Amino acid sequence: MKVLHEISEVRDARKQCKSTLGLVPTMGALHEGHLTLIRKSVEKCSQTIVSIFVNPTQFGPNEDYEKYPRTVEEDLKKCEAAGADYVFLPTNQVIYGTEKPLVTLNVDKEMTSILCGKSRPIHFNGVAQIVSILFNIAQPDVAFFGEKDYQQLTIIRKMVADLHFPLEIVGVPTVREESGLARSSRNRYLSEAELAVAPNIYKVMNIIKEKANSLHAKNETVPVETLENEAKKMISELVPGSKIDYFEIRSTNDLKRSENLAADSRIFTAVYVGTTRLIDNLYIGK
Ligand code: PAJ
Repeated sequence: MKVLHEISEVRDARKQCKSTLGLVPTMGALHEGHLTLIRKSVEKCSQTIVSIFVNPTQFGPNEDYEKYPRTVEEDLKKCEAAGADYVFLPTNQVIYGTEKPLVTLNVDKEMTSILCGKSRPIHFNGVAQIVSILFNIAQPDVAFFGEKDYQQLTIIRKMVADLHFPLEIVGVPTVREESGLARSSRNRYLSEAELAVAPNIYKVMNIIKEKANSLHAKNETVPVETLENEAKKMISELVPGSKIDYFEIRSTNDLKRSENLAADSRIFTAVYVGTTRLIDNLYIGK
């Protein structure tokens, strides 16, 4: 496995790869979720490049950019064990240079004003900017993203279609701890007590899923707001010290809301457990 620091090195790697090149963009602090993406790429593509870059432009002023876990040495070992051919480890200077960019990407308000966008208004513009920069540098044939960040995946798919990026996006199902807690680099901020209750978020999502499905089986109309309120109450009780940012049921396809359950409904939630913000989502269908 080669570690690349410069854009020219990535371009050379791209040129030498005569068949499919897979890209797995990450911010490091790698866990089983990331490694599953890397293994998928290794399986599907002839060569795989993992990027590790904590992208400053997707963090708001009061977010955890400075504090974000940086564990490069361990990450490199994990990438190698997962079968990556290259790891791209750029600095801020390599990606953004020193001058303020004249052209940046703007994700439509329709998408940035809902779910995670509501509390992180600049986040998805920063994600779109770095992902498009990485696509332009590595020119992969396939890029892999987790369903764990479902709004991000939806925006990236649409951006690729809108801007005609010549590549395929593969979405990978969320990898979880045995407890059901979605794997996340931020889980390491949780205290032992918080770790013990955080899996209840996924439990509540499943209770709501079962409830929605059984009501539907009985042909009863299911107002999503009733289910959402029930879920919020359960989370407040089952996850002491938590603060719910949102718990919403929306369409899997376009993330739009409808009054009643739709054929492709999905639960989306963000919950602060102590000071750590955890997100998750679950397909419930109809
Ligand atoms: P990061 O949070 O490091 O995640 C990198 C990739 O791993 C994303 O596609 C994310 O959805 C996926 N991932 C994280 N946890 C996962 C899990 N439990 N199961 C499956 N996939 C999981 O997402 C980002 O970085 C950044 O926004 C990035 C796209 C790299 C742009 O900076």
